[in-house]
Amino acid sequence: MSKTATLEIDGKKYEFPLIVGTENEVAIDIKTLRTATGGVTTIDPGYKNTGSCESAITFLNGEEGILRYRGYSIEELAEKADFLEVAFLLIFGELPTKEELEKFHADIKAQSVVDDDIKKILDAFPKTAHPMGVLSSLTSALTAFNPSSVNVDSEEDMYKSVVKILGKFPVLVAWTMRKKQGLPLDYGDNSLGYVENILKMMFKKPNEEYTQNPILVNALDKLLILHADHEQNCSTSTVRIVGSAHTGLFASISSGISALWGPLHGGANQAVLEMLSGIEADGGDTKKYMAKAKDKSDAFRLMGFGHRVYKNFDPRAKIIKVAADEVLGDLGVEDPILDIAKGLEKEALEDKYFVDRKLYPNVDFYSGIIYRAMGIPTDMFTVMFALGRLPGWIAQWREMRLRKEPIGRPRQVYIGENSRTFKDIKNR
Ligand code: SDX
Repeated sequence: MSKTATLEIDGKKYEFPLIVGTENEVAIDIKTLRTATGGVTTIDPGYKNTGSCESAITFLNGEEGILRYRGYSIEELAEKADFLEVAFLLIFGELPTKEELEKFHADIKAQSVVDDDIKKILDAFPKTAHPMGVLSSLTSALTAFNPSSVNVDSEEDMYKSVVKILGKFPVLVAWTMRKKQGLPLDYGDNSLGYVENILKMMFKKPNEEYTQNPILVNALDKLLILHADHEQNCSTSTVRIVGSAHTGLFASISSGISALWGPLHGGANQAVLEMLSGIEADGGDTKKYMAKAKDKSDAFRLMGFGHRVYKNFDPRAKIIKVAADEVLGDLGVEDPILDIAKGLEKEALEDKYFVDRKLYPNVDFYSGIIYRAMGIPTDMFTVMFALGRLPGWIAQWREMRLRKEPIGRPRQVYIGENSRTFKDIKNR
């Protein structure tokens, strides 16, 4: 492998170094391109061929369906670790010792109270507000109640912000859901595990004791692990670029929540359920929807299918598909939607349009089915994605700040009007 790439423009040659990652990914380092060539830049809408950073957090290989957090396979982590362990691994780079994990959890619990005035902001939202919009607003509002979380130049200050958001975010998630349901806004129970506490905050009825269901705890823990990070996806890139301006962690994460909301990204899990429910209501005619998905004149896409990077199966989808069967079986839930999903998947995997374009089920295709079986409202599915992705956003933001990455500011190619003289309105 040569150490440089050569670019030739108008007969002049320019050499640029090649960067090779620990998994042998090769990138052309074009940091000096514009200066060396006197103004030439690159353009790559959607950044399909452009890396924004070097990162040591998550590795994925879309061709082989590989996903690893800090070198550990997603399959092993989903089976053997718990979510808080994985959060520690993503953020700090190593699996925690028992003592480290206990201290981490204790520090998070110490920060799991949210200023009561946040409820006044929540009250201002109509019950019809989409939970992702509410959550993004409340997360940004946390800055107002924790001003020291903005200028985190020391690792100590950064750690304080990390445990604050990990402690308060699940409360905001639970409050967002319960507000829509007209339920009182409770705090959690610090005697519980991290995920058990989330379930209790979300589901405890005001007039009943809450009994933990280990099936739900295990299912949610696994789903959160599977969503925890995914290298430079749309919402993580948003968190990084907002944080690169030295915006605080909470506001950076608030921007990531807004990016994740989009139906092409995290919003797809809600869109999948709505699509499957629509197919069921339409008599379960999956062939009609397959035809719509392939019809270029029809804006309909098969939600939960396709991926920017995975041009083979999404390893998370494989794990979630098995978990969906287990959870619904354990809960004794017969969901015709699951059968429609399996039928749709089978048809798509045998369809030339999908096979030629390497469109496989992604992480969002089956996750909503489990969330629904758990009693989570459909418009809360993407909020659950954000809950899982939180440690990944934190880890990526922290890495970007510790590596002192420059402020993100892409270039462009201008295609507008050339210079022209102002015309007075009476002459227009
Ligand atoms: C997530 O990046 C991440 O890592 C994201 C994520 C994470 O963990 O953060 O993995 C989470 O966002 C998963 C993706 C969830 N989104 C969806 O399920 C929405 C449906 N999928 C698509 O919209 C699409 O597949 C994307 C947005 C996911 C990827 O789009 P790309 O890479 O830009 O691909 P493309 O739009 O250029 O599509 C290539 C071709 C096109 O057809 P042609 O122009 O070649 O004829 O495939 C077609 C597309 O029309 N296509 C689909 C399709 N997805 C792509 N056709 C029908 N149904 C689909 N779902």
